[in-house]
Amino acid sequence: MPVQTLYFMTTGQCLGGSYRWPRGRPGRSTALTSAFDLSAGVDEEDTLTDTASRPIAEVDATVFRHVVGHLASGVTVITTTDSYGDHGMTASSVTSLSLEPPMMLICLNRAAPTSAAVSRAGAYAVNVLGLGHESLAQQFAAPSKDKFRGVSLSRGRLGLPILDDALAHIECRVVEEVTGGTHTIFLGQVARATAREGQPLTYFRGGFGRFEFARDDAAYQRARQLVLDGMLAPGVVIEVDDLARQLDVDASSAFYALTRLAADGLVRRDPDRGYEVAAFDVRAADDAFDARCVIELGVIEMTIGRVSESELKTLRERFEAMSRLLVGDRFVDFDGYIQANYAFHECVVNLAHNPSLTAAFARLSLKGVMARSFGSTPVTSQRFIDVQRRLTEAFERGDKAAAREAVKEYNVLAKRRVREILSDNAGLRGVGDPTAASAAR
Ligand SMILES: Cc1cc2nc3c(=O)[nH]c(=O)nc-3n(C[C@H](O)[C@H](O)[C@H](O)COP(=O)(O)O)c2cc1C
Repeated sequence: MPVQTLYFMTTGQCLGGSYRWPRGRPGRSTALTSAFDLSAGVDEEDTLTDTASRPIAEVDATVFRHVVGHLASGVTVITTTDSYGDHGMTASSVTSLSLEPPMMLICLNRAAPTSAAVSRAGAYAVNVLGLGHESLAQQFAAPSKDKFRGVSLSRGRLGLPILDDALAHIECRVVEEVTGGTHTIFLGQVARATAREGQPLTYFRGGFGRFEFARDDAAYQRARQLVLDGMLAPGVVIEVDDLARQLDVDASSAFYALTRLAADGLVRRDPDRGYEVAAFDVRAADDAFDARCVIELGVIEMTIGRVSESELKTLRERFEAMSRLLVGDRFVDFDGYIQANYAFHECVVNLAHNPSLTAAFARLSLKGVMARSFGSTPVTSQRFIDVQRRLTEAFERGDKAAAREAVKEYNVLAKRRVREILSDNAGLRGVGDPTAASAAR
């Protein structure tokens, strides 16, 4: 067998065996004969040639199938043609291999007729499926005499069948075949590669799904903050390109942010005007306040009676700082109060010493919600301070019932205040009595 130099670019998944790439510096070339380690219970120095003929016994196949299912992959249809006609099968064990020369590898079960056909034809095409192609994936994953029924096809450079709807096509000539367990690994040199815009279909733990860029989520979080902070005011029409510029992201990330904001009810899609910032909806405030309430009730369950002296002291200091900014029934300094109020509740949440809880609390954007809820008037109520004082004292006494009552009452007060302020605002919709809602809890 000629020695082929390889280096690893992305991972693939072979359903019939577990392959681990060799140790050593990333990007270092490695001879094929030592490139695979069928690692389940096999010594480090074993080579593919040594191990391929031996059964892999130490990891149960069912366990392995479950575990390896956690490796998310794309989904492709491998096509080829020979004297018997066209063949195709769904495959996720597909990996780009080398740039110079451009190479791919695919891993096909030898029991699959398509595998033998690729071997006979000496060529294959990788058709990368896009979002919405689940039924194509299923069609090509079931044995059938008429795999291509209803599928729109063209012929590629190598004369292979090409799925017109696929997101990308990579046509390859087979340069080498390697046996791995039940599968044949076909190393192919790329003859032609084309792609179009679109979202890929993904496969994870036995189910199809969609891919989401982390940068899209970041764009959404920032856009949400702009709306909650009032930087994008109610009624403002948001153009995708303008938002993309403002967030310094591409148009597809901005569009993604808008669709999520629409799902949150923070923007709405007007057929004529496009996306516009929704009038502040009492539901958005209710959701955030309820979420804070639930988090704090959880913190009380977890911590009360076990809070250290120094933490109680910090909580008391934060309460005092906040109470100085709301005197009588007026805010002395509204923005200052919002900061101090946030610091006080953040301190409550931090008592749990649970970073996930702290992060969940931060994501509620409560400063923005409060600014949008209460920002139109300096008039408020001393009862907010009274109930938060009772919460502070309940922590100090280790009185769980009193703390729970204070948190629930504070939530009702906050929700009722939003209703009072927005009662003659067109954005107020579907308003119930928060007192009744909380009594039902
Ligand atoms: C999402 C998905 C990924 C698959 N990946 C592979 C793969 O990488 N290799 C393989 O041999 N079979 C894979 N299969 C199974 C084959 O598609 C299936 O056995 C098919 O019937 C083979 O077609 P054929 O028997 O007509 O050749 C996969 C199936 C699904 C649903």
